[in-house]
This record gives sequence, structure tokens and C-alpha cells, in this order.
Amino acid sequence: MTQRPPDGAPRYPAVVPELRHPAGTFDVLPPESGRWVSLVTTFARVAASAGYGLVITPTFEDVAVFQRVGESTDVVRKEMYDFDDRGGRHVALRPEMTASVVRAYIQHRPAAPWKVWYAGSNFRYERPQAGRHREFHQVGIEAFGSADADLDVEVMALGWEYYAALGLRRIDLVLNSLGDATCRPGYRDLLLAYLLEHCAELCEEHQGRLGDNPLRVLDCKKPECRAVTAGAPRQTDHLCDDCSAHFARVRAGLEALGIAYRIEPALVRGLDYYTRTTFEYTGLALDGAQNAVGGGGRYDGLVAEMGGNETPGIGFALGLERILLACDAEGLAGDGAAGVEAFVVDFAGGEAARDLTAELRAAGLRAERSFDGRSPKAQFKAADRSGASIALVVGPDEAAAGRVTLKDLRRPPAEPGRLQRPPAEPGRLQRPPAERAGQVTLAREDVVAEVCRRVRARAEVG
Ligand code: HAM
Repeated sequence: MTQRPPDGAPRYPAVVPELRHPAGTFDVLPPESGRWVSLVTTFARVAASAGYGLVITPTFEDVAVFQRVGESTDVVRKEMYDFDDRGGRHVALRPEMTASVVRAYIQHRPAAPWKVWYAGSNFRYERPQAGRHREFHQVGIEAFGSADADLDVEVMALGWEYYAALGLRRIDLVLNSLGDATCRPGYRDLLLAYLLEHCAELCEEHQGRLGDNPLRVLDCKKPECRAVTAGAPRQTDHLCDDCSAHFARVRAGLEALGIAYRIEPALVRGLDYYTRTTFEYTGLALDGAQNAVGGGGRYDGLVAEMGGNETPGIGFALGLERILLACDAEGLAGDGAAGVEAFVVDFAGGEAARDLTAELRAAGLRAERSFDGRSPKAQFKAADRSGASIALVVGPDEAAAGRVTLKDLRRPPAEPGRLQRPPAEPGRLQRPPAERAGQVTLAREDVVAEVCRRVRARAEVG
């Protein structure tokens, strides 16, 4: 263990151990990271299409922010990364973002309705496995200030639209209503009475903790609890008139928009703040254990419970790691990192590479170069690896003449045994030899415009 000397500066071990990312976390490197860029930019576009603005909150908060997420939930009881910081404050890395966004809403009092989206990482101390990580990433939305069932429909439709925009086809929307402060207590008592009758058949954990929150038993995946809850009373059969009308309007809205859903009375979700509408998106192409690619619901009591004015709210969060697994399972490779469009090969001192890449980038193109005065061969290799379709070559001859050779790196290779150069048509002038070989030499001042023209033409073709 690293010990601290009296001055407080950390003392590091003499031999550096092999350093790896912590268990349950991972690194994302290019080109894979290009898929993450498109996951977030696509979400930003879908959220903005319905008037949601980006909100950014801290990755850690006072632990009290998350206690309302649910004292009876695994997320708070077992999985939270909480600790005392150097100032003695008890803080926690966020296990989810809704509570942080509610805290921000109460603190800043924006005008309602307030519709926001977010993207970021969350931390839960869980047993790592495919689709379950200790640091994982979500995109999500939250909407405050309206209890209108049509807002529930808007929220669920946006998640749906996002999956569709990514090309995912095999997603199921699972829906339930958990009632409200009027009808939930009565249902809770009914459920508790039923579970007490069957207490001996429940899993060990739930036999001991039935009274904490009997709804948690509905969420238990163990076969013994499942066998009991299959016959349990259902909240949807015990909704008050208002909740019943709200749920009917939600269902009618989804049907009007052509969004297929399945009602699942046991869907209570792993957080305690939900009222009325709760939902999950299931990836049908994924393994059953971690197939929830997103979930959310209404939390009409949470703002008041956290110290704000009575304000209804609803939202969802979607897990990016699981969405990528679903994309893989559905054969959607997605975009890799966007490669560069032009590569400057300069073996005449490097000034042209320095200036041309800057000019190309200022013109909106993606341009790269080599550093350290590498050999022409090494630079051409780097140009090939970069994915550029165009190389701009500046050797001593070009530099002296104020010219640049533009080389097309995407020419189809000549078929073996065939002439590389088409025979000239009789009576027509042959093009200059440089052009025939897929390259052309241009005046320095014309190069950037010519690269722009070619890149644009290529984009139009496909
Ligand atoms: P959640 O169901 O806890 O809800 O998480 C939402 C999604 O995050 C899950 O469906 C899953 O895709 C992903 N996820 C959760 N835990 C992990 C993990 N350990 N590893 C990988 N992915 C994971 C919430 O977080 C609520 N804040 C959603 C919400 C927003 N409700 C209302 N507004």
C-alpha cells in the first residue's frame, strides 16, 4: 500500500506495477470511440428535435442527493461509491443522473416546463460482466413541470426514435403503472399481505426484508421469488380513477404513434422514486440477464421529497454499453472514427505540411501530416494508415517550383495482366503523364480549393 509521508504528498512504490484500468471499467480507443461519438451526437439530435437542452451536473454529489433514490434499493444500499473527501464531506460518485438533475432543478429554479438531456458516466459497485460495469455510460432526458400523460408518450417515443435512428429494430417497450400516493399504499398493503402468506417460499434476502418495500420483491430475478410473484396482486388492477385515466391516455398515445408496447405488471424498476408510468426498453437480441437497454418513468413526488416545490417529472436513461452490444447483436457495425480526408507528405523541410494542414483544416477538411522529418516512405505509409483519400506531396522539386502534387490514394488497383494506362483515342490529345497515374501537380495556391472540390464530389457520389 502507498503510504503518505508527513508532508502529505503521496509516496509511490519504487517499482511501478503493471497499470491497468480498474475491474468493471474499460478504455475506449479510436476507431471504436467513433461509435461513441455517433451514439451521443445522434442522441443530442433526437433530444433537440423535441426541445430538450443539454444539462451538465457534477459526477459526484453530497451523498444525501442519492439517498432519495431509494433506501431499499441495491443501488443505494450495496452499490454506491461513497466516501469522505479530504474536507470531511460525505460524497458519492453518482449511481444515476436523475437525482442530480432534480437537485439542479431545485437549486436553480428554472421556469417549468424544463426539458433537459444529458450524457455521462455513472458508478455502481456491481459484479462486472458483459453489459454490467462499475463505471457505465448513459444518455437520458428529464422533463419537469407537467403531469400530462401526453408527455409520458413524448418521452417514450423519443427513446424509441433514438433506437430507430441507430438502426436498431429488435427493441421491445415494456410498460407498467405504479399508481400514486392515492392508490399505491392500498396496493402495497395488499401485496404485503400476499407476500407474508408466502414468506417461506421467498429467497433468503426477501424473507428478511419484506417490510422495507414489498414492491422490491416484484423486481427479484430469483426463481423462488418469481414463482411467488407470478400470482401476486397487480398494481394495474388497483389503480385509482386518476391513475387509471392517465394510464389509458398513455396507452392510447403510444397506439396513435404506432409504438408497440407490452404491459408488464411486475415492472417496478430498481429505484424507489417512480409513480404512475414506468417503462423499460428491452434488447431482444441480447442475453436475458442484461437486456435492459434503457428505462425510466414518472417521479411526481421526487422534487418535493428532495426539498423543492411539488413538481411532476418524468424521464429515462439509456445504457450506452448495452446499446452497443445490441448494435453488435443486430449486425450494426456503426461508424468508426471519421478518418482524415487529406494527408500532407512533405520531405522538403516541413513548412508546407505545417501551413497546408492548417489551411485545409480552416477550410473545414480533416487533414493530417507526419512529424519528426520522417522518410517519404514512412510518410506514405502513415498516409495510407490514416484513411485519407488524397495525399498532397511536397518534395524539394515541388517546393522550389511553388507546386504541390495531389495524389489520389483511392484509385482502384490495376487488375493483374492488364494495361494500367488506357490506350489513347486516335486523334485525341493524351492527358499529361502525371494525371494518368492518378496524380496531378498543381500550383500551391490552387491546392486547397481542388481538395475541397474533390472531397465534396466524392461525398455527393456516395
Ligand atoms: P436504470 O434502470 O438504473 O435507470 O438505468 C438505466 C439504464 O442504464 C439500464 O437500462 C441499463 O441500460 C443501464 N445500466 C444500468 N446499470 C448498468 C451497469 N452497471 N452497467 C451497464 N449499464 C447499466 C436509471 O438510471 C434512471 N435514472 C432512469 C430514469 C431517468 N428514470 C427517470 N429518469
